Amino acid sequence: MPKKTWSQTLTAGVLTKRIPTPPFGDIKDRHIVSYEEYVRTGGYEGLRKALAMKPEDVTEEVKKSQLRGRGGAGFPTGLKWTFLPKVEEGAEVKERYLAVNADESEPGTFKDRLLMDFDPHLLLEGIAICCYACKLSKAYIFIRGEYHHQAKVLERAIAEAYENGIFGERGLINSDANTGGGPRFRVDCYVHRGAGAYICGEETALLEGLEGKRGWPRIKPPFPALKGLFGRPTIINNVETLAHLPSIVEHGGAWFTEQGVESSVGGPPSFGTKLMGMSGHVERPGVYELELGIPLRTFVEDYCGGMRNGKKFKGAIPGGVSMGVLGPDQYEAELDFDIGRKYNVLGLGTACPTVFDEDTDMVLVARNIARFYKHESCGQCTPCREGSGWLYQLLVKIEEGQGRTKDLDLALEIATSMGSMPGTTICGLADGNNWACRTIMNKFRSEFEARVKPTYVPVKMTVGAAAKG
Ligand SMILES: Cc1cc2nc3c(=O)[nH]c(=O)nc-3n(C[C@H](O)[C@H](O)[C@H](O)COP(=O)(O)O)c2cc1C
Ligand code: SF4
Repeated sequence: MPKKTWSQTLTAGVLTKRIPTPPFGDIKDRHIVSYEEYVRTGGYEGLRKALAMKPEDVTEEVKKSQLRGRGGAGFPTGLKWTFLPKVEEGAEVKERYLAVNADESEPGTFKDRLLMDFDPHLLLEGIAICCYACKLSKAYIFIRGEYHHQAKVLERAIAEAYENGIFGERGLINSDANTGGGPRFRVDCYVHRGAGAYICGEETALLEGLEGKRGWPRIKPPFPALKGLFGRPTIINNVETLAHLPSIVEHGGAWFTEQGVESSVGGPPSFGTKLMGMSGHVERPGVYELELGIPLRTFVEDYCGGMRNGKKFKGAIPGGVSMGVLGPDQYEAELDFDIGRKYNVLGLGTACPTVFDEDTDMVLVARNIARFYKHESCGQCTPCREGSGWLYQLLVKIEEGQGRTKDLDLALEIATSMGSMPGTTICGLADGNNWACRTIMNKFRSEFEARVKPTYVPVKMTVGAAAKG
């Protein structure tokens, strides 16, 4: 049976069930959902159902949902969990960790924040389900330093969860049943505040940060599932990924596949809803919950009130600057995990688009993005450390009208040669730098050419009077 498409729009939010969000609610009605309100509105039912199942059956249900990670890479969540070493039934669970990625530092991305602002127990329930399914004993929520308010909201909610049988000694809803009569299984949950570095969102830099060290990405292998935090098996999942778990367990994996779309290029599907944070030159920016696969044009025109001041669409970043840009002829791009294969961008990323109108100076956009990466490179790998600085300098020169045509080629050559995909760096930060700068320069080439002076190549005359002279 063919999969339905985005046009059969949602009738209610899934992640935003308790967070009034247009078109299903008014943002003025938003408030922090307490434990009491969360439970009264059906909260922790997913956890209760999970606890009545075997942990491996919970993982199986998540695999059936084909949920893909919402942190940027879209890796299948259930599959990731199966990389952990097995714990025999009834055996004591030694230290194994969940690192919750709440760093949300990708420019233009502010979707996880919505959940932490208003519905912290949705995340905590997802954490409890993940820890139960994967037999993880401690969860650390690594939250970006700037999210002061959100950290406080989470800390309050965690205290409520300890009081109400979710975490701690009398936790996981006060039952021995979940251990099958074996040793009691307890989960603890903590908030760890980062110091505001973009690189700490990269999963292994995040682990270094949790260990109290400088946020330097680790060379893989070993992969975190085998040797992660403090050298122990660790799962790293994004806030939004975890927030999907309660409804997947409650309604079943098959239910989740009713939203979103199949791949149109023979790849894995893009099922479920997605929090999409729109920013840039639109009338009504903000976070919306939409089915994966919605065309960018529909998102802008039907949900965000259209382009600001009736201007024309010029281009967009599909989801965080690391993904590169969509050009003027790619307004119809469907926001799903196929986007990288179809529209010459790196991928869907965080699905938080930044839209540019016809008046946007794309040379300035490229220069601004290059400045960000130069500042955020951790400096471990030479191509990223040096390349990001060179790229920035070249783009400043071009923006100021001092560049030559050959500088465009040089900038493209530097961008193309850096990143973990060309195999020259440890992590994907340099790929993000490459894709952002390269796609802007290629898709808006004429704007760059108009800013540079031609490069004159000296011609040596070999015949006639000039050759003799
Ligand atoms: C430079 C860089 C920054 C990243 N920043 C974030 C981030 O802020 N939040 C996030 O969830 N994932 C971020 N990621 C992706 C994580 O490394 C990882 O893939 C993700 O947390 C896995 O969770 P998921 O499978 O639930 O998506 C970043 C990756 C890179 C390379
Ligand atoms: S690619 Fe850049 S940010 Fe990533 S480890 Fe290397 S130097 Fe650090």
